[in-house]
Amino acid sequence: AFVVLEECIQCKHTDCVAVCPVDCFYEGPNFLVINPDECIDCALCEPECPVDAIRAEEEVPDTQQHFIVLNAELAKHPNWTQITEPKVALPEHAQWKGVKGKLAHLDR
Ligand code: SF4
Ligand code: F3S
Repeated sequence: AFVVLEECIQCKHTDCVAVCPVDCFYEGPNFLVINPDECIDCALCEPECPVDAIRAEEEVPDTQQHFIVLNAELAKHPNWTQITEPKVALPEHAQWKGVKGKLAHLDR
C-alpha cells in the first residue's frame, strides 16, 4: 500500500483525494491516511501531493517507518472518516511546510 507521511500533518492539501480511484483516504483533524486494506497500489496519488507526503510502503524512509502502522491504525479510528472530495488546505499549511517532528502535533 501507499502511505501518507509526516509532511501532510497540519497541511492536508487533499490533491491526493481527487485522484484515488478507490477512495481509500481517511481524514482526521490535521492529517490524512491511506487505508492499506483498500489501497490498490495504483500510484496515482504520489505525484499529486504538493509537499511530497506520499510514498509506497517499500519506499518509506527509515525515519518514518512508524507511519506505516499509523496509517493502518488511524484509517480505522472511530472519529476518522472517509474523504472522497478534495477541499481547501489547512489555513496555516505554508508555515508548516518542511517542519520536522510534526507527529507531535497530530490530532486524533
Ligand atoms: Fe489511492 Fe492509488 Fe494512492 Fe492507493 S496508490 S491511495 S489506490 S491513489
Ligand atoms: Fe496530505 Fe498531500 Fe494529500 S498534504 S492530504 S498527502 S495531497
